[in-house]
Amino acid sequence: MARIIAGVTTSHVPAIGAAIDRGRTQDEYWKQLFDGYEPSKKWMAETKPDVVILIYNDHASAFSLEIIPTFALGCAEHFPIADEGWGPRPVPAVEGHPDLAWHIAQSTILDEFDITIVNKMAVDHGLTVPLSLLCGQPSAWPFKVVPLCVNVIQYPPPTGHRCFMLGKAIRKAVEGFDQNLRVVIFGTGGMSHQLQSGRAGFINKPFDKHFMDEMARHPEELVKIGPLEYLREAGSEGIELVMWLMMRGALDDDAKEVYRFYRVPASNTACGHMILENPRK
Ligand code: DHB
Ligand code: FE
Repeated sequence: MARIIAGVTTSHVPAIGAAIDRGRTQDEYWKQLFDGYEPSKKWMAETKPDVVILIYNDHASAFSLEIIPTFALGCAEHFPIADEGWGPRPVPAVEGHPDLAWHIAQSTILDEFDITIVNKMAVDHGLTVPLSLLCGQPSAWPFKVVPLCVNVIQYPPPTGHRCFMLGKAIRKAVEGFDQNLRVVIFGTGGMSHQLQSGRAGFINKPFDKHFMDEMARHPEELVKIGPLEYLREAGSEGIELVMWLMMRGALDDDAKEVYRFYRVPASNTACGHMILENPRK
């Protein structure tokens, strides 16, 4: 049986990817941020999952306003790296796990979630920056990746509650898969940030701290936050935090926080990162 052993959350700021790719991680601006991920890289190397389910959002790279799937599950063998305007990031191609991905599609769709099955999809900084932060610069990513792309770009996004419930359905799907796989699930994006209009640069540290404090023990409080509250309290891009809640829903109720890191500034974003482990690893 496959099982989810742990969850990781992390912001996915594109400038973090650029700092890695250009060898700038030890610059004064970035050093503390990258130091904060050193224990996580060690944790990732020791944990050695077979597969990572990576919940992220596309930023108009694979999808445009022509087609806006709320939940798009990557079922392909490979996912090319998107060109976001400066050429694709120099990172390894992402290898999928089609058998597990199709199984998750079947299980969650029959559980009444409307998943879009995607067999061709370029992946952008939303997916590659978290991989770089947790794995460094390997010649190949050390696990297969099942990408799950969530629409938080065009209103209306799915609610945190729906994402949390889909997380639970993903857990059930993984536990019903008949291969012995150790799975880690990533929920990426956040924390508070606003990239546009009058409040560009907006950050809310107390909101972010509360969100992190409640992730492990009281996520049922966080799922009550609606889209307008995210907009008001966490900025227009703070809605990315619903993807943290999908990760949380996929973990056991009594999952434990084993690491957290928070730093401002990271480009325009409050960079937040947590590792939660299931008791039964
Ligand atoms: C930034 C953050 C994001 O989440 C993103 O998708 C793009 C830019 C930023 O802080 O610059
Ligand atoms: Fe983003």
